[in-house]
Amino acid sequence: MMLDLVRKSRSYRRFYEEKHITNDQLSALVELGRLSPCGGNKQYIKYVTVCSEEMNEKVYGCLAWAGYLKEWDGPVKGERPAGYIILLRDKNIQSAMSVDEGISAQSIFLGATEMGFGGCFLMNIQREKLAEVLELDTEHFAISMVIALGVPKEEVVIEPMASDGDFKYWRDEKQVHHVPKRSQEEVLLKQI
Ligand SMILES: Cc1cc2nc3c(=O)[nH]c(=O)nc-3n(C[C@H](O)[C@H](O)[C@H](O)COP(=O)(O)O)c2cc1C
Repeated sequence: MMLDLVRKSRSYRRFYEEKHITNDQLSALVELGRLSPCGGNKQYIKYVTVCSEEMNEKVYGCLAWAGYLKEWDGPVKGERPAGYIILLRDKNIQSAMSVDEGISAQSIFLGATEMGFGGCFLMNIQREKLAEVLELDTEHFAISMVIALGVPKEEVVIEPMASDGDFKYWRDEKQVHHVPKRSQEEVLLKQI
């Protein structure tokens, strides 16, 4: 089951925008982040959730999608995310463990998949603009990551990585998204 969940938890960038995500569903996902492990148990991550049409559009305008798909500017209207979870770093809580955001985000991501959603982590963000959109106190909070969420409208296929080691994802003529992954033989160095 876990393997299934992880295999299904791909990065989706096109969604059925009309299929909504609710505040309750977003809170349930934040709960997964809240309960995730973190360095020194400092818990410096704070969350903002967004799912109204007006705010979704504003957040969308701060994000950059799929850098390797040069001719694609991101999802068109009608295929955009139904909501977002924005991970913030609380600057008043000292911690050097920046890996915490990744752990929290993956908990959220897996939970979203289990709930029938899909999403995309985004770190290519216009942070100043997004801080304004969210009316954040930037003395207190820094934007770490955005998780876009919705019901996926695209197929994503895992591919074995070619021998030339090209890690770039691509889209075929049917708009199926292909994502190469290194083999277990390549990544599992030793079993001692
Ligand atoms: C930390 C992190 C930052 C990412 N930032 C972006 C981003 O800004 N824009 C985007 O379209 N995808 C982003 N992605 C998605 C990656 O491109 C994606 O995870 C990768 O291509 C592998 O595909 P997969 O998630 O289906 O395995 C990010 C993923 C991670 C983990």
